[in-house]
Amino acid sequence: MYYQPLTQDHGLRHSPIKALVIPRPIGWISTLDAQGRPNLAPYSFFNVVCDAPAMVMFSSSGEKDSLRNCQETGEFVANLVSARQTKAMNISSTAVPSEVDEFQLAGLQAIASHSVKAPRVKDAPAALECKLHDIIELPSSQPGRRNAMVLGLVTGVFIDDAYIKDGMVDQEAMQMLARCGYRDYATVERVFEIGRPDD
Ligand SMILES: Cc1cc2nc3c(=O)[nH]c(=O)nc-3n(C[C@H](O)[C@H](O)[C@H](O)COP(=O)(O)O)c2cc1C
Repeated sequence: MYYQPLTQDHGLRHSPIKALVIPRPIGWISTLDAQGRPNLAPYSFFNVVCDAPAMVMFSSSGEKDSLRNCQETGEFVANLVSARQTKAMNISSTAVPSEVDEFQLAGLQAIASHSVKAPRVKDAPAALECKLHDIIELPSSQPGRRNAMVLGLVTGVFIDDAYIKDGMVDQEAMQMLARCGYRDYATVERVFEIGRPDD
């Protein structure tokens, strides 16, 4: 099949786009609002986009609390999600009023970060503390619905020592959770190494 998404319908039960670009890592974004109230939500339009300096992005489909908080405070934490946090991660995606603390809602402990005021998720295997670099406005197919990409400069990196082995991150042990299409998820359970041709 082939279709041009700006002008043609795909004819499938759901848009296939999010089932094609898989797996997507999940940035579990923690922020504070202007009053200092914590907020937590998962974003799978998320990735690292540069490594020196390390920078990450997440994008908001609609103007959500995480986007608004980044705009107001200029910082966020991108927590990484292990399969062990699947249930809590999902609960934290509930659409609740902005004053509701999703850490509490999902039964999670917030712990202080070092380089930003926003807390991180205590049980997350790793977390990237970020200062806001830019917010890039994106086109929107739905009039009045804001789409925006938040870019952050990583100013602090937390890694649970349990996942460091022989000076390397034990990627299999972390069992990272990833988003696939529809309501589907995957876990990173087996990794393998391939040397570069010119190594
Ligand atoms: C695994 C997962 C990934 C998600 N990814 C995104 C995303 O990339 N962009 C987005 O706008 N919403 C995404 N959502 C939905 C948000 O988490 C949800 O709208 C949440 O209530 C937003 O919270 P906030 O208003 O506190 O930021 C995702 C939900 C789940 C469960």
